[in-house]
Amino acid sequence: MVSLIVHGGAWNIPTEMVEAHRTGVAAALREGWKLLSHGGSAVQAVEAAIRCMEDDPTFDAGRGSFVNALGEIELDASIMNGSTMRCGAVASVQNIRNPITVARAIMEKSDMVLLTGIGAVRFAKEHQLPTCKNDDLLVGRELQRWKQIQGQRKFSAKDAFRGTVPSDTVGAVAMDANGIIAAGTSTGGTPNKPPGRVGDSPLIGCGTYADSTIGGVSCSGWGEGIIAVSLAKSVIDKMEMTGADGDAAAAYGIQRLASKVDGLGGIVLLDRNGRPSVAYNTPRMARAYRTSEMKSDVIEV
Ligand code: GLY
Repeated sequence: MVSLIVHGGAWNIPTEMVEAHRTGVAAALREGWKLLSHGGSAVQAVEAAIRCMEDDPTFDAGRGSFVNALGEIELDASIMNGSTMRCGAVASVQNIRNPITVARAIMEKSDMVLLTGIGAVRFAKEHQLPTCKNDDLLVGRELQRWKQIQGQRKFSAKDAFRGTVPSDTVGAVAMDANGIIAAGTSTGGTPNKPPGRVGDSPLIGCGTYADSTIGGVSCSGWGEGIIAVSLAKSVIDKMEMTGADGDAAAAYGIQRLASKVDGLGGIVLLDRNGRPSVAYNTPRMARAYRTSEMKSDVIEV
C-alpha cells in the first residue's frame, strides 16, 4: 500500500478560481505519485508535491504568495519524517522559491529543526540550494491586492479565511512502500501580515505532524488559531489515545479549532494504513488523493 494526499488551501475559494485549484492539486498529486509508485520515499513524494504547488502561482506558497505589510514576501514551511521523527522547517524566509526543499535539507543534513530569515537563506546557500530574487516570487495579482489593502483598516488574519482572499497554504502527506509516513506544509502566510509574523505551517505539531505508527497531518487555515490548539498533534493524539479512525480524528480537530478559538481551517491526513481523510469548516478546500488500492485520483474543491 502506498498513499498520497495533497491540499491547496481551505478558504472561500471563489468559483472562478476553482478550476485553477483543481488543476493545481491534481498536478501536485501526479508529481508525488510518480515517485511513490516507483519506489520513492514518502519524504520525496511530499517534497515533490509541495514544490509543484510552490511553483504554481495559484497558491499562497512559493511564487504567488501573499505580500506582507512592507510589500515583501516571507515564506514558511515544514516537513516531518514519521519514522525517524526528524523534522525541518523554515520561517520568515525570503529569496527562496521552494522553502520545502530547504526544510527537508534542515531535517536531513543538520541537527536543527527550525531556521528563520537570513539564517535559513545562509543554510540554503551553504547546501547549494537555489536562491532567487524576492521579486521573482511576486505576481501582479498579489501586488495589486497589497496596494488595495494599504490604507484600509488593519487586516485581520482571521478575516482572510472568512473572505475571498486568494488561496492559502499547501501541504501533503504520503505513505511509502516501507510504511513510512511523511507530512509537509508550505505557505506565504496571510495578506499584509506584519514582517516576522509566523503562522502554523512551519511549527511542528501545529501545521504539520507525522508518526508512522499513527498517521500524518497537514493543516490549512487561520494560523494563529491552529497554533493555539496545536491542531496537527491534537489530531494525531486523538487517534493514538482513543483509537479514533482518521475521519473521526480529522472531524475532531476541526471541531476543536472551531469550539476553542472560533477558528476556520482544514486538515488532510493519512492514518497508519495510508487511508486518507479530510475535514474543513471553510466553504471550500482544494485537495487530491490516491492510494494504490484506488483505480484513479480523487480531486475535490
Ligand atoms: N495557515 C497559514 C498561516 O496562517 O500562515
